Amino acid sequence: MSGKEPLSANQYQAIADYLEKQAGIRLGLGKEYLVISRLGGVLREHGLADFDALLKLLRGGGRASLQAAVIDAMTTNETFWFRDPAHYRILVDVLMRELSPGPVRIWSAAASTGQEAFSIAFTLHDARSAGAIAPDRTWEILGTDISASALGQAEAARYCGVAATRGLMPEQRQRFFEPDGDCVQVQSAYRREVRFRNFNLLSPFDGLGHFGVIFCRNVLIYFSQERKRNILERFHRALVPEGALFLGSTESMSEHTDLFRMERHGTGLVYRKV
Ligand SMILES: C[S@@+](CC[C@H](N)C(=O)[O-])C[C@H]1O[C@@H](n2cnc3c(N)ncnc32)[C@H](O)[C@@H]1O
Repeated sequence: MSGKEPLSANQYQAIADYLEKQAGIRLGLGKEYLVISRLGGVLREHGLADFDALLKLLRGGGRASLQAAVIDAMTTNETFWFRDPAHYRILVDVLMRELSPGPVRIWSAAASTGQEAFSIAFTLHDARSAGAIAPDRTWEILGTDISASALGQAEAARYCGVAATRGLMPEQRQRFFEPDGDCVQVQSAYRREVRFRNFNLLSPFDGLGHFGVIFCRNVLIYFSQERKRNILERFHRALVPEGALFLGSTESMSEHTDLFRMERHGTGLVYRKV
């Protein structure tokens, strides 16, 4: 191992195929630097001489920890607090009012390090305190992701550096978190409301139950059109009647109007089950 392992065109293609098959993530052209920089560390940690040794193990289907490490290294976990604020306003002003009575189940389906799921909890608490949500309205929040290390951070609910500030106003930082050394941790009242679990969006959704609202933002952009369609069909089945789906602000649904009706509220878009 030299620290910067060479990567042939065949090896690159084999790694790209593996990622697409396991996680749906398409690498596209010209991402060799990404594979070298991100998987170089995995080679070292697992004592592998080169990418051929890695591919041999991946093809053999062995070493679950190695497979998880590869997926983990190749996912992009960028996220921040209250990303696309219009979605949180629609959640309170439209969905929590319109969805039928009873607990609203909300799924953050590519939760990364947890900022999205906790931002939902913060928003709903504030809305209830302000009287914008009926006092007897309840909710459950599930955060899932394929990346074990991202989920580990979400479960710890502990944030440091930029992750502890990006998207947050100082006043919110004081109200929702408590200091923990140089970092901050989400207060237990909000932590109690969010459950996290490792879940691959390519797996069947059967065991997850039904949801009133699904946030699936900034992940389907990595998937092929076929995979995207398949996941949207399964989201459609997993939603209650009139349930709602949020996509990332740069993602579109134009070809899937048979499944979802687009609604614009202020500056935000939400997709309602048809
Ligand atoms: C860019 S982050 C988006 C985080 C958050 N939804 C947001 O918009 O801020 C994309 C997340 O999707 C996850 N992901 C990628 N492929 C996945 C899959 N097949 N199943 C579940 N999660 C996946 C990644 O691990 C990553 O944490």
